[in-house]
Amino acid sequence: TRIYVSRDMASVALGADDVARAFEAAGCEVVRTGSRGLFSIEPLVEVEQDGTRIGYGPVGPGDVAAVLDGSHAARLGDVAALPFFAGQQRFTFARCGVIDPLDMADYAAHGGWRGLDAARAMAPQAVVDAVKASGLRGRGGAGFPTGIKWQTVLDAASDAKFIVCNADEGDSGTFADRMLMEGDPLCLIEGMAIAGHAVGAYHGYIYIRSEYPFAIATMQEAIELSALRIAPFTLEVRVGAGAYVCGEETALLDSIEGKRGQVRAKPPLPALAGLFGQPTVINNVLSLAAVPFILSEGAQAYAAVGFGRSRGTMPVQLAGNVKHGGLYEIGFGITLGELVNGIGGGTASGRPVRAVQVGGPLGAYFPPSMFDLPFDYEAFAQAGGLIGHAGITVFDDTVDMAHMARFAMEFCAVESCGKCTPCRIGSTRGVEVMDRIIAARNTTPPPADPPVGPFLKKALNSRSPSRINTGPEAQTALLRDLCDTMKYGSLCALGGFTPYPVLSALDHFPEDFGAPAPVKEAAE
Ligand code: NAI
Ligand code: SF4
Repeated sequence: TRIYVSRDMASVALGADDVARAFEAAGCEVVRTGSRGLFSIEPLVEVEQDGTRIGYGPVGPGDVAAVLDGSHAARLGDVAALPFFAGQQRFTFARCGVIDPLDMADYAAHGGWRGLDAARAMAPQAVVDAVKASGLRGRGGAGFPTGIKWQTVLDAASDAKFIVCNADEGDSGTFADRMLMEGDPLCLIEGMAIAGHAVGAYHGYIYIRSEYPFAIATMQEAIELSALRIAPFTLEVRVGAGAYVCGEETALLDSIEGKRGQVRAKPPLPALAGLFGQPTVINNVLSLAAVPFILSEGAQAYAAVGFGRSRGTMPVQLAGNVKHGGLYEIGFGITLGELVNGIGGGTASGRPVRAVQVGGPLGAYFPPSMFDLPFDYEAFAQAGGLIGHAGITVFDDTVDMAHMARFAMEFCAVESCGKCTPCRIGSTRGVEVMDRIIAARNTTPPPADPPVGPFLKKALNSRSPSRINTGPEAQTALLRDLCDTMKYGSLCALGGFTPYPVLSALDHFPEDFGAPAPVKEAAE
C-alpha cells in the first residue's frame, strides 16, 4: 500500500514524522509530499487505492491499523474534494501536497518544465510580453507589475545580470513561500530559469531566512537534482541571519554581497544597478513560482482570473485565532469576510472576531464592519491598508488594540536598520507615547507621575508641567503627528508602513485608546 504523508515543517511540528515512521514499520511504501495547506487536518495521511487517494486526518502513529482497514473516524475521503480545497483556484500550488517535491519524474508527470520549455522556444522579449499580458504583480507586497520589472532588466545593457529570489518571508502569519519551497521547489527553480532566459541572466540566488531549515535543505537538494535541466542557468541558496529588514530588497542585496543588511537609497533601482551593481531581477517566491503556469497555460489563462487591476490568483494565508488556518489560493476579488468567516470558519476560540490584520506586522487592522472589502491591491490601498504578502491574522474580542499598536511600534524599533531618523527614533518615541496612552486609559484619574521614557522625563522635568499634556487626547494627537513623520519621512517600508497598524487600530478601535467608542447606528 502506498501512503502519502507531508514533510512540510508545519506537518512535522504536528507529528507527521512519527506517523510516517509508523506506516513504514507496518510495511507500507511511504511517499513524503509537501502540505496541502489545511493545518487542522494535519498530520494528514492519504492512502492510495486504485489510483485515488483517501485521506485521514488528523491521525497519530497509533492509528495505522484503523487507517489501513478504513475504519478510522477521521476518514476524509478524497481530500481534493473537501470544500476547503474544492473552492480554490490552485495555479501556483497545484502540485503542493500532491507530488514528492524531490522527484524529478513526478514533477514532470504533473506538468513540470512545460513552462521553461515553452519559454526557451520563445525570444526573450516574447517571454517578457507574456508576463506583462498575464497582469502578474509582485506578490511580495508592493504589487509592482512583474513584466515591467523584467523589461527594465532586459533593456539594461550589461555582461552580467542576476535573478534574485526574495525568500526572506518575514511577515507574521505568512508561510506561503515556505510551503512552496518545501512542497514544490522545482516550480520556483523553473520560474527563476524562465526569468533568466527572459532577461539574459545566467545565475540566480535564493535568499532564504535562517528560520526555514527545511526549505533551505529542500531547495539545495532540488537545485542539485535539476542542475542539468536548467543549464546553462545556475542557482545557489544564501541563508539570511534573522533580520526582518533583509526582506527589503536592497538590504537583501547588501546581505548577499556579504555586508550588513542595510537599506540602500533608491534610485538606482535594483533592476538597473542591483546585485554587485549589475541589473537584477529581484522577485518574491510567489511571483517567480507563478511564472511557469503563465508560460505553460498561456498569459490569458492567468489574466482571466482576478478583480480590477489585480489579475490571477493570490495564495492567501489564514493564521492567528482562526478555526481553519491554512493556505487558500484563490483569484483576487474574494471578500475579507468570505475569507475569515467562510473559509476560515471564524475564530478558533469560538468568540466573535474583533479585528483582522492583513499584510503582516506593517498591515492595517480591519473590523468586521469592513469585511465586504474585496481582496484587491487598489481596494485595500483605498481603505487605508495593504494586501502585502496576503497574510491574514485573526483576533477575537479579547484583543487590546492599544497593545497591538504598541507592538507595531516596538517591532519597528527592534527591527529598524537604523539608517533613517523617522524610523530609528520615531519608533522608540512611538512606544513611549503608546505607554502613556495605555497608562492614562488604565488609570482614572490620570496618574500624577505618568510612566514616560527617559528622554521625555528629562524634558518634562526641565519645563513647566502645565505645558505638557500627557492626557489621552494630547497623546493620540502626538501619535498621529509621529505617524505622519514616519510615513512620509522613512526611507523604506519598515518605518514608512508602521503607521498602518497603529493608525488603523486608533481609527477603528478608539475606545481602546481611552476615547469614546464610535457611535453605532441604532438597530432597526
Ligand atoms: P516599492 O513599491 O518601492 O517597489 C516594488 C518593486 O518594484 C521593487 O522591486 C522595485 O525595485 C521595483 N520597481 C519600482 N519601480 C520600478 C521601475 N520603474 N522599473 C523596474 N522596477 C521597479 O516597494 P518595496 O519597498 O520593494 O516593497 C514594499 C512592500 O513590501 C510593501 O508593500 C509590503 O507589503 C511588502 N513587505 C513584504 C514583506 C514580506 O515578508 N513579504 C515584509 C515587509 C514588507
Ligand atoms: Fe532602516 Fe527603518 Fe529607515 Fe527602513 S525606514 S531604512 S528600516 S531606519
